[in-house]
Amino acid sequence: AATRYHKWEISYQFTSQDCVRKLAVTINGKTPGPTIRAVRGDTIVVAVNNTLMTENVAIHWHGIRQIGTPWADGTEGVTQCPILPGDTFTYKFVVDRPGTYMYHAHYGMQRSAGLNGMIVVEVPPGQPEPFGAYERDHTVLLNDWWHKSTYEQAAGLASVPIVWVGEPQSLLINGRGRFVNCSSEASCNVAHPDCSPAVFPVVPGKTYRFRIASVTSLSALNFEIEGHEMTVVEADGHYVKPFVVKNLNIYSGETYSVLITANQDPNRNYWLASNVVSRPPGTPTGTAVLSYYGGRSSPRARPPTSPPAGPAWNDTAYRFRQSVDTVAHPAHVVAPPARSDRSILLLNTQNMIDGKIKWALNNVSFTLPHTPYLVAMKRGLLGAYDERPPPETYDHAGYDIFNVQKNPNTTTSNGLYRLQFSSVVDVVLQNSNMLRANSSETHPWHLHGHDFWVLGYGFGRFDPAVHPATYNLKNPIMKNTVAVHPFGWTALRFRADNPGVWAFHCHIEAHFFMGMGVVFEEGVERVGELPPEIMGCGKTRGGH
Ligand code: C2O
Ligand code: CU
Repeated sequence: AATRYHKWEISYQFTSQDCVRKLAVTINGKTPGPTIRAVRGDTIVVAVNNTLMTENVAIHWHGIRQIGTPWADGTEGVTQCPILPGDTFTYKFVVDRPGTYMYHAHYGMQRSAGLNGMIVVEVPPGQPEPFGAYERDHTVLLNDWWHKSTYEQAAGLASVPIVWVGEPQSLLINGRGRFVNCSSEASCNVAHPDCSPAVFPVVPGKTYRFRIASVTSLSALNFEIEGHEMTVVEADGHYVKPFVVKNLNIYSGETYSVLITANQDPNRNYWLASNVVSRPPGTPTGTAVLSYYGGRSSPRARPPTSPPAGPAWNDTAYRFRQSVDTVAHPAHVVAPPARSDRSILLLNTQNMIDGKIKWALNNVSFTLPHTPYLVAMKRGLLGAYDERPPPETYDHAGYDIFNVQKNPNTTTSNGLYRLQFSSVVDVVLQNSNMLRANSSETHPWHLHGHDFWVLGYGFGRFDPAVHPATYNLKNPIMKNTVAVHPFGWTALRFRADNPGVWAFHCHIEAHFFMGMGVVFEEGVERVGELPPEIMGCGKTRGGH
């Protein structure tokens, strides 16, 4: 196995991702950052030099389990202190499983400022994958984009009354978009090369693997390649039982691989399109171009059609079906343990604290501590976090998930769930009505340090006496990010066998910021010697 070294300088740069000039957080001057390519078993070393003048950084390797290196997970407040301006922190970890992953900032709301990119882990040469050969792969990184700075967004979310981030101005594909009302913005330049759409070349008759990741801050997306059916073959680094779709629903934090064959008229170009679903769309379609080699159309030519508009934004049943259709490939089923040792039921609600809007789980809104849990727990530092564990369940028989709750007041805590090492844990995420009547959103939940089996989805109220009997224990897909659909529930299972402290949270940037997350600890006593570089904040300040 190889060791792959990267040197990254994090800095602010003016970019024009959607033709509008904005200060973005970049890697070596670019957003998105470079795609990290490796082969299974390789070691990745990334020396991150924070050259921002006044802002901290931490980078999370989303989907990489960090087995034996929990301090390299890059989650500020959980696994490390932030990287201070002027400092360099070196992440070193093994990519032990082939698949499509991503990386992004995990400090405040910095991810939305542009610090993100993809990770591609190939199978070792000569090792077959459970689908036919393909010519090459293309990477597609989907994002949403705001003209306001992330500072302004974060300050707005913490204000009374709340200033919500609102719908994104643009949708980006590989960092490129186009703001439609360009003439309304003085800082807009349609001729700027940053905003010319990405072009994906194909040779007529060949098959391609498109590796797709969504790093959106808010938006659930639907992705389509005009005129080309997609066969879904991978989800979050796991082979799925192939299924064919016209378009693909993808939530923030998810990755997919699809195969497409270039079997259409080669003399014209086709749109790649991303559209907002699950929220009333206030953002135009994100676009890129599929172009045939040797055809009569110039590679950058605008396709002659209008871009696909995607399914109806509120067709929850359509998106629910794709979730249920995503199961393990028959030759790659990893059977889940038949039963769990512990069940944690988490009710997702929108709440108020002192006039501020928050999100909570079982009526606890999460806050990050100043001392990373990993250091506090491994070192036994007292008073670094709330030692009372958050509640295991809620009043599932009595809570009316279809209505606005009567008393939305809640409390904050940075308590965490301590899991018995190697035990099997079930988590059921129950969605509910928000503070506004007749509304419930999709929440993509992401677990650090593990893949979980997706055992089931349902609409309405989860009943612990009934629904576990309907779980798919035969061929559930393993994932690291899963959707909890509006007014629905999602059940998952994992084995707590990766020593460390791991965040589990909604991947909508603003939701996590507003408290929508929990933390799990398992086997922290088995974690090896902590690198001193992760310390230096909170109770770890001044000496290790
Ligand atoms: Cu991709 Cu904790 O997130
Ligand atoms: Cu959410």
